[in-house]
Amino acid sequence: LFASECKFFLGIQDLKQLGEGQLPEIAFSGRSNVGKSSLLNALAGQNFLARTSSRPGRTQQLNFFSLANRLVLVDMPGYGYAEASKKVKESWQNTMFTFLRARPVLKRVLLLLDARIEVKQNDLQMIDLLNRAAVSFQVILTKCDSLSQPALVAKTGEVNKIVAKQPAAYPHIMLTSSKSGQGIDELRAQLAQLAIP
Ligand code: GTP
Ligand code: MG
Repeated sequence: LFASECKFFLGIQDLKQLGEGQLPEIAFSGRSNVGKSSLLNALAGQNFLARTSSRPGRTQQLNFFSLANRLVLVDMPGYGYAEASKKVKESWQNTMFTFLRARPVLKRVLLLLDARIEVKQNDLQMIDLLNRAAVSFQVILTKCDSLSQPALVAKTGEVNKIVAKQPAAYPHIMLTSSKSGQGIDELRAQLAQLAIP
């Protein structure tokens, strides 16, 4: 599946522009700068597919990418981006929340957490939203290349304590790096199971 070309086909700022969706979807969620767009690119094996930036707030709409017409990857704006105006932030968050809550074709949310940063209040709010909406989500630690092995083990244990309590969460936390490629094949294999055969 991931050997086929991944193609951008829709970018929207307003959910009114969005149709029902015919294919299973996987959404990338997480704080601004956590590495959502980079992870999407790493999975697709295409460096410049989704735009990335060292500055938070790069992705400003819901971007839809199709893999061989069998699976759709949805790159989303991050939450917790302090520099955006309050009005802009609220409008992104509303769009995101509404999308996540009421999307029948949404098979899974990948909830990205930066391995170097503690779990923040807005991460917990997102987790709470996903639980309440009963949207199954999988926690992914990003940027694992920047931590030592012992630090990673400690971090995984810490995040595990939180994840274990969440009804909608997959128990397995994945360790990834878009830079080194760690965990990318494993994640591809999991997502491929959700695609149309
Ligand atoms: P927004 O669109 O602003 O919400 O951000 P995003 O979550 O899409 O993050 P993006 O993929 O744009 O990456 C943000 C920054 O993190 C960039 O400078 C990336 O180069 C860096 N980054 C992403 N993945 C990794 C990784 O695996 N390792 C390291 N070391 N840096 C990474
Ligand atoms: Mg992005």
